[in-house]
Amino acid sequence: MKKIISVVGARPNFMKVAPIHKAFQKYNSNVKHLICHTGQHYDKKMSKVFFEDLEMPKPDFYLGVGSGSHAQQTANVMIEFERVLLTEKPDLIIVVGDVNSTVACSLVASKLNIKVAHVEAGLRSFDRSMPEEINRLLTDAISDYLFVTENSGLVNLEHEGISQDKVHFVGNVMIDSLIQYLPKAEQSSVLKTYGLTPSKYLLFTLHRPANVDSMEFLKDLMELFQNLSAERKIIFPVHPRTKKNLADAGYKNNPPMADIILTEPIGYIDFLSLTKNAELIITDSGGIQEESTYLGVQCITVRNNTERPVTVEVGTNQLIGTDLKSVEKVAKEILNGSIKKGVIPELWDGQTAGRITEFLASN
Ligand code: UD1
Repeated sequence: MKKIISVVGARPNFMKVAPIHKAFQKYNSNVKHLICHTGQHYDKKMSKVFFEDLEMPKPDFYLGVGSGSHAQQTANVMIEFERVLLTEKPDLIIVVGDVNSTVACSLVASKLNIKVAHVEAGLRSFDRSMPEEINRLLTDAISDYLFVTENSGLVNLEHEGISQDKVHFVGNVMIDSLIQYLPKAEQSSVLKTYGLTPSKYLLFTLHRPANVDSMEFLKDLMELFQNLSAERKIIFPVHPRTKKNLADAGYKNNPPMADIILTEPIGYIDFLSLTKNAELIITDSGGIQEESTYLGVQCITVRNNTERPVTVEVGTNQLIGTDLKSVEKVAKEILNGSIKKGVIPELWDGQTAGRITEFLASN
């Protein structure tokens, strides 16, 4: 019996491991698949609700590391995960995405000569000031199996000299979850709860430190809210980091905020409903660039670079930069009908977890 442990840590990991766990059920006579949650994200709304929405079992291991500086968080995950690996002795671990838990667990496994599979390998923003870029580079350098979502990943890994036999273009596993749960999202009452009409509201999400840790950015954001809320309703589920920074900047109860719907972080199904029905999404997230492209929803990415260029090349995403005046201009053009048409990238077909598990079960 092959023993495989998949690692989840932060919010964007859960929807990637859920379909992998389900796809492994087909092989349960020869693969024992376990889930380890590092506890990088721990609030109910950042973690537990995703397990419920995605119908995932309770994790087999919970490391409870919580927040901290990058070094503290990464080190704590490493110490706790090493204990799990020493006791469990798995044949392989699976890490997904680019969060601190991803790099921490791959490093520990690789030093114990346990094989590492990285799902969502090869993505590069070429911006090393982004902690995720460091996590991506290091994880890929020590992984044994690299599962790639888009063509740019193949090119990047080749440039970095990673042996082609380790690299597998399988598509986007997060889209497997989206496809599976879209029917449930159609039943969600979240639009009704917030008084929103389909295709008549803007969805904002902003949490990157490079944006929300800047006072100037937050000040400009207030102006953007004011200007765009004159045209459409705005809903803004606020990430804990952003919430803290807005409160520190004194924006909690200022008049511009009264014009928009501020919410706590929203669970997977309801958020999918909000994404699918938005007229326009304004975000600095990684995953939402891909989800909006799959759904054909207009998306403005408030960053200077993206590690997911296929969403701009063939999808509905536009990379506008962090100047919110430019964001406002493009947003208004979109609201006036100047939309970007897109297609669904290759192999984003809901079958990615099947391809990954078939390979790992037989290799
Ligand atoms: C992390 C990931 C980022 C991902 C994001 C999604 C890294 C380096 N960053 O960033 O790639 O896009 O998750 O959300 O791994 N906090 C809570 N409750 C929680 C978790 C965090 O209140 O459940 C607060 C803490 O004050 C913490 C802050 O949010 O200090 C930031 O959390 P952290 O996990 O450090 O990074 P994220 O910004 O969430």
